[in-house]
Amino acid sequence: MTRTPEEVAQALQELHRTADLTTPYALRAAVTLDLASRVAGGPLGAPELAGAVGAQVAGVRKLVRLLARDGYFTLDDDQVGLGPRGWLLLEDATRARLDHGRGYARVDDAWPGLVEAIRTGGSGYEAARGKSFYAELGDDEQLVASFDGQLAEWSGHWTGRLVEALGLSDEHVVDVGGGTGALLGAVLLAYPETRGTLVELPSTAERAGRSFAEQGLSDRVAIATQSFFEPLPAGADLYLIAQVLHNWPDGETVAILERLSQAAGDAPIVIVERLTGGAENDADLASDLLMYAVFGVGERSAAEFAALAGEAGLDLVGTRQVLGALSTLELRPSR
Ligand SMILES: C[S@@+](CC[C@H](N)C(=O)[O-])C[C@H]1O[C@@H](n2cnc3c(N)ncnc32)[C@H](O)[C@@H]1O
Repeated sequence: MTRTPEEVAQALQELHRTADLTTPYALRAAVTLDLASRVAGGPLGAPELAGAVGAQVAGVRKLVRLLARDGYFTLDDDQVGLGPRGWLLLEDATRARLDHGRGYARVDDAWPGLVEAIRTGGSGYEAARGKSFYAELGDDEQLVASFDGQLAEWSGHWTGRLVEALGLSDEHVVDVGGGTGALLGAVLLAYPETRGTLVELPSTAERAGRSFAEQGLSDRVAIATQSFFEPLPAGADLYLIAQVLHNWPDGETVAILERLSQAAGDAPIVIVERLTGGAENDADLASDLLMYAVFGVGERSAAEFAALAGEAGLDLVGTRQVLGALSTLELRPSR
């Protein structure tokens, strides 16, 4: 196919616009510096705004000038105001995704390591930052706390459907890597006769304890502060592990499944993950590549989970869609 020079020039321009990182980074900088809320009440002089956020006035001017082009700010006579789209920068969902001072936004630090992750199957985050994502969060209490909060917020979108589908009565439910307990708390609230055990690392476990107390659930829940690579609480009726295994390579995933299998005996184990090869929307595809960049793992298909479960002596006996690609996979001991 022959292309005219004009077609080539236009296609190149489009590609370069798509690949350009200026606006994505500029938006992150503006949100992290919290510029929008400083001018939400009315315009401020650029020097005053820079002073208020502890930044360089030249840098603030350049940032605002660029983002004014897309309507996020206005810059008239060195006065910075909120543009017609500026309100978007004030939304909680924007801050959660773009504020570099919050845990979840740190996932973007993995992108410079994407090539390394694809070449080696290792963590792109580690390649880019020199330490793992969870190690980096663990070094900063504010980052872990905000990350936990963001996961709990996302849980609100899917736990209701999952909990209803579980159809429980008076079971003892163990949630492994259960975060601050959004899923387990929803189980306990929906089924008043159930009991729960949450398995988590120390700082998150502590926050989970506070959250259970606030919901009046403390007397029905135990917290096992430990790693899921250690022996897990045994003898419960149901084991849940939600959005954990997509962070771990195959070897570690099999090791975690073996721990689950040893603890569960004949009880069902329910994995919650986004499955590839089915109902993935654009957000699922983006999240899959992002998880791959961060952990060198990403999402798996039901067949891939079945193979890993098999290595741990477990059979995949059923899958069920929860929300988009997010699904449950039920495992039982191999016959
Ligand atoms: C992506 S979060 C999922 C949290 C929760 N299950 C949910 O669906 O929102 C993964 C969780 O695994 C926990 N985690 C990571 N490494 C762990 C380990 N070795 N032992 C126990 N928990 C761990 C993290 O603290 C984090 O809360």
